Formats: sequence, C-alpha cells, structure tokens
Amino acid sequence: MNKIQLGDSRELLKQLEDVSVDTVYFDPPFNSNRKYRLTSSDDSIGFDDIFKSDDEYVNLVEPMVKECARALKKDGSFFFHISAEQMLIPQMICSKFFSRVQPIFWKRSRSKNNVKTKLGACTDVIFWCSHVAKPKFNMVYQPLDPYYAKNSYKNKDARGNYALGHVCYTRTQAPDKSKSDRYYSITHNNKTYTPTYGWRMSKDNLKVMIADDRIHFPKAKKNANPYKKIYAHESKGKPSTDYWDDLHSIAMGSEERIYPTQKPVSLMRRIIEMSTNVGDVILDPVAGAGTTGVAASQLGRNYILFDISEEAIEACKRRIKNEGKNLTT
Ligand SMILES: C[S@@+](CC[C@H](N)C(=O)[O-])C[C@H]1O[C@@H](n2cnc3c(N)ncnc32)[C@H](O)[C@@H]1O
Repeated sequence: MNKIQLGDSRELLKQLEDVSVDTVYFDPPFNSNRKYRLTSSDDSIGFDDIFKSDDEYVNLVEPMVKECARALKKDGSFFFHISAEQMLIPQMICSKFFSRVQPIFWKRSRSKNNVKTKLGACTDVIFWCSHVAKPKFNMVYQPLDPYYAKNSYKNKDARGNYALGHVCYTRTQAPDKSKSDRYYSITHNNKTYTPTYGWRMSKDNLKVMIADDRIHFPKAKKNANPYKKIYAHESKGKPSTDYWDDLHSIAMGSEERIYPTQKPVSLMRRIIEMSTNVGDVILDPVAGAGTTGVAASQLGRNYILFDISEEAIEACKRRIKNEGKNLTT
C-alpha cells in the first residue's frame, strides 16, 4: 500500500481514513524567512520558507497537524521536526491535538566558525507526540559515551573487557522474603554467597551464568556480592536518551544530497524503528526528497508520501526506485 502523491497536504490528508496510520513524520517549512535551494547557482530545486506573518505559518501547518492527528492510530506517534529557534508555535500546535508532547533534541551540525555575534544554532527539536501516555515503542540505542565506556569496562577476562551489572537486590528493591524464591545460597570456589536482599535471578539461571563464566566473584573484599559481566563487545550501546548527537546531517555538496533540508536516512531509521513494527504504515505529508520513504522501505514498513513540489515528488520516486522496492504510485 505504498503511495507517493503530488498535491497540497491540506487537501490530500482528508483522503486518509480515521485511525489508519502508525506513525507520522512531519518536517514542514520552519518559518525561517529563507529560500532553500539545492545549490547557490541553480534556482530550480528547492522551496521558499517565507511567510508574511506567524498567522500565515499557522494557517499552513495547523490544518495538516489536525488531519494527521485524526488519521493517527491510538497507540501511534506523531513527530513534528522544527529548528530550536522556531519551536514555540509548533509546540503550541502539538499540545492542541495531542495529550503527550515530548521534545527530542537533535544536534544537526557542529559549531560554525563564521558565527561572530551570536551563539551558533545547531539544534533541531523533534516533538514526539501521541494520544496516549504510552504509545507503541521499541527501545533504540546510541553509542556509549567514550568517558563512560573507558571507566566502566575496566575488568578483563579471556572473552574481553567487561563492566559490572547487579545480580543482587539492594535493600529498597528487596522482594518479600516470605513469598520469594530469590533468597538462596550459592557456593563457588569453596566460598558461600547469601545476599542479604536476595538475587535478581532464579538459582537455575544463576548456575547457567556461572557455568558460562559470566559472573564476576570479587577477590579482595570479604562478603562482597558477585556481579554479572557486561562485555563491551556484546553491548548494543546505551538505551537512547532524548538528546541525539550521534546522527550526522548530510553535508552540503555531498553526492547523497539531492534536495535542500534533506534529512539523513539514519535519523528517519531511528524514528521509524522506535515507533513502528514491520508492516506498519508511516505517513510523511511534506516528504521533500522522500527520506522517510527510503528508511521505511529499508525497514520493511509501508509509506505514504505527499508533497506540493513536483521536484520533490520526482526526487522521492527516484530515490525509492533506487532502493529497488515496490513503488505502486
Ligand atoms: C523541510 S522540507 C522536507 C524535507 C524532507 N524531510 C527530506 O528529508 O527531504 C519541507 C517540504 O514541505 C513541502 N510543502 C510545503 N508546503 C506544503 C503543502 N501545503 N503540502 C505538501 N507539501 C508541502 C515543501 O515542498 C518541502 O519539500
């Protein structure tokens, strides 16, 4: 059910059925008072981000958000992408149509050497909105902080460097002694361990981990509890925070860049992976070069892309054709 369509989304979105899409990514003009073009010498590809007033901007954006909120499933997510400098109006619009609005901060660029009289603007905000408190969510991971990695993975065995994770409860987490099977003793190398507040795993699971040499028994300290080994080479990274500084924007003049304001596929993959499952439907009503469609194709999701610009729609079709996926419209 993939679809790419030319037109004004204020009209096109009305075709969509109620509660029919799983995620919407919305990256409209930012109200930045700029003309965006692909190159400084060529005026053909791009769009004008110039509005006479904030009201004119609201008149463009708000009807689209309203229609997206109607088409979104109850456990779905709506993402409004905007520059940090222009975040106020979008935040108010999001709060009007969704009960939950959480900002994600994307560091889109490095510092700029040509900025002399103000702080360099390098952050976009992506408002993650939903109708319910807990929308569909899959954990995504970011690379470990180098400082944390260096200080945590200090221990080493034949498998590699590892950090220490708890296998015993602390006092405040301790399960009810009368009802729990987590209070038991284990003997290892002639030493018996009986943690005061119980174990976080069953005795059978702990035995499997000991046999696989995945439990760290402290040598020096008397009565110290064991820990599980968390190997650096097995780590997926850190569970994602709301600050994304690990996804880089597409450099000006790079071959990959075919449309101004084009977002990186890695950013769209993270948004899609965290908010949808294989087979789900992702809507992008202001698709630009179709980055959402490219990432959705790669991840086995369906997409609906609209844009008012013919060049943008051509770019969407070209890029998705290059992905070799079934383009139906
Ligand atoms: C910031 S760009 C989107 C970039 C896109 N996320 C990408 O990665 O390439 C905004 C797009 O909104 C489109 N647009 C502006 N007004 C529109 C409208 N009323 N209906 C549909 N698209 C519109 C523009 O043509 C432009 O392509």
